[in-house]
Amino acid sequence: METLYERALKVIPPVGMARYTKLGVVKGIGSYIYTDDGRKILDFVMGIGANNVGHNHPLVVEAARKQMENLIHGGHNVVYYESYVALAEKLTEAVGDSMIYFSNSGSEANDGAIKLAKCATERPAIISFMGAFHGRTMGAMALTASNSAYRKHYEGMIPSIYFAHYPDLYHSVVPVADGKCPDFYMDQFKTIFDTIVDPYSVAGIIMEPEQGEGGYIVPPKEFVQFMRDLCDTYGIMLIFDEVQCGNGRTGKLYCQEHFGVKPDIFSTAKGIGAGFPLSAVFGKKDVMEKWLPGAHGGTFGGNPVACAAGLVSLQILLGGAIDNAAAMGQYFKGQLEELQKKYPVIGDVRGLGLMLAIELVKDNKVPDTALTSRIIETALEKGLLLINCGTYHNAIRFIPPCTVCKEEIDEAMTILDSAFSECLS
Ligand SMILES: Cc1ncc(COP(=O)(O)O)c(C=O)c1O
Repeated sequence: METLYERALKVIPPVGMARYTKLGVVKGIGSYIYTDDGRKILDFVMGIGANNVGHNHPLVVEAARKQMENLIHGGHNVVYYESYVALAEKLTEAVGDSMIYFSNSGSEANDGAIKLAKCATERPAIISFMGAFHGRTMGAMALTASNSAYRKHYEGMIPSIYFAHYPDLYHSVVPVADGKCPDFYMDQFKTIFDTIVDPYSVAGIIMEPEQGEGGYIVPPKEFVQFMRDLCDTYGIMLIFDEVQCGNGRTGKLYCQEHFGVKPDIFSTAKGIGAGFPLSAVFGKKDVMEKWLPGAHGGTFGGNPVACAAGLVSLQILLGGAIDNAAAMGQYFKGQLEELQKKYPVIGDVRGLGLMLAIELVKDNKVPDTALTSRIIETALEKGLLLINCGTYHNAIRFIPPCTVCKEEIDEAMTILDSAFSECLS
């Protein structure tokens, strides 16, 4: 019998084929997926950081089923329905001083976020960061600089987008003393404003509070705080992309809490819908009130079933799963640091909560992409699903659900250790 992969080959273009595995999956429960050839695999990818409460959480299944019995689609531009308004109420209550606009994907939310910044400031330009991944739509792609492959073929992008260096201290473009953020990362904005774009032409500066596809890079706290002050000085909207790092992923409801910085606007997606396509743009009330009817919209955004799932997912997250992510993240990171002592090819262990990565390098921090692929393949053979990140695909990321337990992390560590030992022997 043909596998799902073989069938897909005939009808799905290369761009739509799975980039990471050939697995055919029939079921997901909690931290595990089950394949059509009878394997049970520990899933530390979660559909790329989307199933933050695990696969098919029974409360999510129940809420979605109940909602489907009443209304599957209404259209938020047309009517009001309970799950849409209730999720907005609960999320804005959790975030404070905000309003929320729902859409379907992370890219769409980022397009919305920059449209809102332009609309609210009546300014044209946006600054993004090197290493950033904001998505695949024409708007979000133009903000993306984690890999030129994402931009190749589509040059001639939306204009007036500029890039600053992200403070990646492990691969810093200037020397780092005592682990402190070099002044360069702050001072670069003076250069950008003096030479490329006047600050009063800048509508927004968009950044991931933990860079995702770019390699799970955590910026220094003082840098994020500097960004707030900089934006306040010039009336620029500070925009956070919390598509991947939001919704409990880093051991806080939103990653911004680690830095004590509130953006003017932020986007989120992935974990917000417990696996259903749902995303959101949050904005401070006075900013959101400038976004008038017709200035943005969409048919499916804030789908009733996705919002119903989002509501129970939020309850599960606030009811203990976020605290669990913080505790398990700390434990997991400690285990990865122990692994680093054993295998010096692990150049860096980093990340917040359960958004963790190890970077594999040769001498002088040269990326070891081939070894990274071998470790990931070997881990999968042994029953652990992982994927890479980083421009050179030489970091392995760990994004288990916020509900993961110590025994599952121990199982992953045993497999990982054995994969390193096998690949390095
Ligand atoms: C930080 C970040 N922003 C935006 C996106 C794009 O989200 P989507 O794939 O849902 O469009 C992603 C996806 O990986 C992401 O990690």
